[in-house]
Amino acid sequence: MIRAKIGGIGYYVPEKVVTNHDLMKVMDTSDEWIRERTGIQERRYAKKHEETTSTLGTKAAKIAIERAGITAKDVDFIIFATLSPDYYFPGSGVLLQRQMGMQGIGALDIRNQCSGFIYGLSIAEQFVGTGMYKNVLVVGAEMHSCGLDFSTRGRGVTVIFGDGAGAVVVQPSEDDSKGILSTHLHANGDYAEELAYINPGAHGGVHAEDKEQFGYPDQEFGGMFLTEKMIKDEDLFPNMNGQVVFKYAVTKFPEVIQEALDKNGYTANDLDMFVPHQANLRISQFVQRRLGLPDDKVWNNIQKYGNTTAASIPIALCEAWEAGAVKDGDLVCLAAFGSGFTWGSALIRW
Ligand code: UT7
Repeated sequence: MIRAKIGGIGYYVPEKVVTNHDLMKVMDTSDEWIRERTGIQERRYAKKHEETTSTLGTKAAKIAIERAGITAKDVDFIIFATLSPDYYFPGSGVLLQRQMGMQGIGALDIRNQCSGFIYGLSIAEQFVGTGMYKNVLVVGAEMHSCGLDFSTRGRGVTVIFGDGAGAVVVQPSEDDSKGILSTHLHANGDYAEELAYINPGAHGGVHAEDKEQFGYPDQEFGGMFLTEKMIKDEDLFPNMNGQVVFKYAVTKFPEVIQEALDKNGYTANDLDMFVPHQANLRISQFVQRRLGLPDDKVWNNIQKYGNTTAASIPIALCEAWEAGAVKDGDLVCLAAFGSGFTWGSALIRW
C-alpha cells in the first residue's frame, strides 16, 4: 500500500456570530447553562438563502486545494460528509463539484454524522493507498442552522450546533514514515434513535406503528417521506438523548484512541496533538484526563463554533496547523464519536 498524507487543509466558517445571549432572546436558556454544560460561548450561522452546505464546503475546499499545490482540475475524487445536505438527494458532493468545475470525476456522499470526516479520511486513504487516485478531496460541511428548533422545546439540541466547513486533500506521501498511519472505524446501530433526525424518512415502511404516529396515508402502494402530520406536529427536528450520548462518548473516545496508539506501537505520551471532534468541551476534557495529556496537546475550539459535526475535526485541525501547533513530524491523533452511534480515529505522522 502507498502511504497517504494530508497534502492540503482549509476551513471556512460563516461571518455571522451568534452568542449564547442571542439565543436567550428566542428561547428559555442561559449563557451560564450553555457554558457550564458544553463550554460553548458562540457559534456561526450561514446566510440563509445565500449560503448552503455545499457552498460552505466549496470555500473550504478551495483553500485546501491551493495549499496542496494543485488545482481543482487535478482532483480525482470527492468525498463529502454531512448530515445537513442541500437536498434530500442528490448529495452535496455533486453540487460542490459543479461549483468548482470538476465535472466528470466521482463524488461520494457519506452519512456518518460526527464521525463523517474520519470515515471520509479513511476511504480517501484506501483509494490513495491502492494507487487508484492521487488527489482525493475530503470535505466535512454543515448548515445546522437551517434545521434546528429555535423554540424552548429544542433548546437541549439547538444551543450545541453551529455551521461551518473543513476540507483536506489526501495524496500519496513522498516519505513512507509520514502520513496517515492508520484509521479505525466503528458503529453500533442499537443506538440509532438516541441522536437522530427521523423525519422526513421512509421509516413508515418498516414500523407499522409509525403509520399513526407520523400520519402515513393508508394505501396499498406508495408512501411519503414527509406527511402533513409531521409538519402540523412540528416533528421535523433532530432529537438527542444527551446523557446516553455523553456516557457512550466518554467510553468510546478513549477506546478508539488507544486502538490507534496500540496498532502503531505508541502510547498517549508520544502524542504531540490530539484533535477531538468538538462535541462538548466536557467530553474533550474527560478524554484529555484519561489520556493524561497537557492542555497544549489538545485542540479545542467548540467555544467559538459550537459542534459543527462532520466539519469540526477539519476546522480544528486546520486551526491548529495554522497556529503552528501541528508541525512537520508531529504525531497527531484525530477521534470522533456521534450519531449512529458511530466512532473512529486516525493517527497521523504530520
Ligand atoms: O457530537 C455528538 C453530539 N452530542 C453530544 O456529544 C451530546 C452529549 N451530551 C451532552 O453534551 C449533554 O447531555 C447536554 C449538554 C446535551 C445536556 O446536558 P445534561 O447535563 O445532560 O442536561 P440534561 O439534558 O439532563 O438537562 C438538564 C436540565 C433539564 O431540566 P430539568 O428537567 O432538570 O428541569 C433540561 O430541560 O437542563 C434543561 N435544559 C436546558 N436549560 C437551559 C436542557 N437544555 C437547556 C438549555 N438551557 N439549552
